[in-house]
Parts: sequence; structure tokens; C-alpha cells
Amino acid sequence: MEEARRALITGLAGLSLVQVAQASRATDGRPARPAAPALVAYFSRSGNTRVVAGLIRRSLDADLFEIVPAAPYPDDYLKTVEQAHRERDRHIEPELKAKVPDIDRYVTVLLGMPVWGETAPAVIRSFLSSHDLSGKTVIPFITHGGYGLGSSESVIARHAPGARLQPAFSMQADQERETMNRVHAWLGAGAS
Ligand SMILES: Cc1cc2nc3c(=O)[nH]c(=O)nc-3n(C[C@H](O)[C@H](O)[C@H](O)COP(=O)(O)O)c2cc1C
Repeated sequence: MEEARRALITGLAGLSLVQVAQASRATDGRPARPAAPALVAYFSRSGNTRVVAGLIRRSLDADLFEIVPAAPYPDDYLKTVEQAHRERDRHIEPELKAKVPDIDRYVTVLLGMPVWGETAPAVIRSFLSSHDLSGKTVIPFITHGGYGLGSSESVIARHAPGARLQPAFSMQADQERETMNRVHAWLGAGAS
């Protein structure tokens, strides 16, 4: 965890938000809340991105918002993959369960997501289309299963016109597919 936190802070180094947080470090050594509030908005299916979001939120004392589709994705992994590919190929922007109550309060938005089908999940496009982030600093943090970011960053750039987009922090994280394969093998189901 400490290693991930260090990697994260290194990834975010040089950004004004972190400088503000560090400059205002309280006497006990913990980062004080930046003068301008930061928002950590994230989507996560299997929890990897949620862990990173929690680390950022605690480090920067930011507000947290989970991006949730109005219609939940299937529990079944393979059905989710199918749906993700359909949404990507048909440029679908699924409805969100909720919007950030007052996005204008924030000057910095840390936007978290997994890579789905070599790009950003459709709900991220929905989020960006339904919130005006122009003039704000947007810092993506992205987890993936080992195949890299694909077109995630360019999709974010296209859907957040006018935002000051920073390079993404990214890291490889466990794949649900691998967990599923191992458990199925153990159960003798032979499914993949
Ligand atoms: C529908 C779906 C599609 C995925 N597509 C990719 C991919 O194209 N490349 C990749 O490296 N990982 C892919 N993964 C793996 C996830 O990006 C990775 O496990 C990520 O850390 C999951 O984050 P989460 O736990 O926050 O949902 C995919 C996972 C799912 C569920």
C-alpha cells in the first residue's frame, strides 16, 4: 500500500494540487486540505481503481464521487465484456445514476477508471459529457490488466474540451478474468 501511495505521489508530482497540499502540510506531517477543493471521481467494477481512488482521497483530503451507471453492469464478467465492447463500438453513453451535485466548486478533478476494451469505459464518456470540466485541471488515474492504456487518454481529451488535461497515472492491477479462470478451474467447471 505504501509503495502504491509513493508511486501515486510520484506520478502526481509537479502538479499544482500536490504542491498546494504539500505547502500546506500540517505540523503533524499530514497533508492539509488544499485551499481549493479537489474531487476524486472514479468508476470501478472489481475494486482496483476504487483502492487507488481511496488512497488519493485520503492523501489530498479530497471529495469522493463514484461514477455509477443507472443500469448496473451484469455480475457475469463475460457478459460485461460483451456489453463493454457493444457500448464502445456503438459510441453509447449509458445514463448515470447521479451527477456530481456541484461540479463548479472544484478546480481539480482526479478521474479514475479501468481500461475496458483498450479504451475508457463508456460511463466515463457519459460522465465527461454530462459535466462541464472546461477550465479545470483533470488528472486521470487508470488501472489496466497488463495491456496498457490504449486510447483512454485521447478519449478523455476529446470528451473534456477546455480542460487542462494532465498525463495519467497508470498501473497494472489484477484482472478479474484471471481470478475467474482460476476459481473455475478449482471448481472443475472448465469455464473461461
Ligand atoms: C469489460 C472489461 C474489459 C477489459 N479490457 C481490458 C483491456 O482492454 N486491457 C487491459 O489491460 N485490461 C482490461 N481489463 C482489465 C481491467 O482494466 C483491470 O483489471 C482493471 O484494473 C479493473 O479495474 P477495477 O477493478 O477498478 O474495475 C478489462 C476488464 C473488464 C471488466
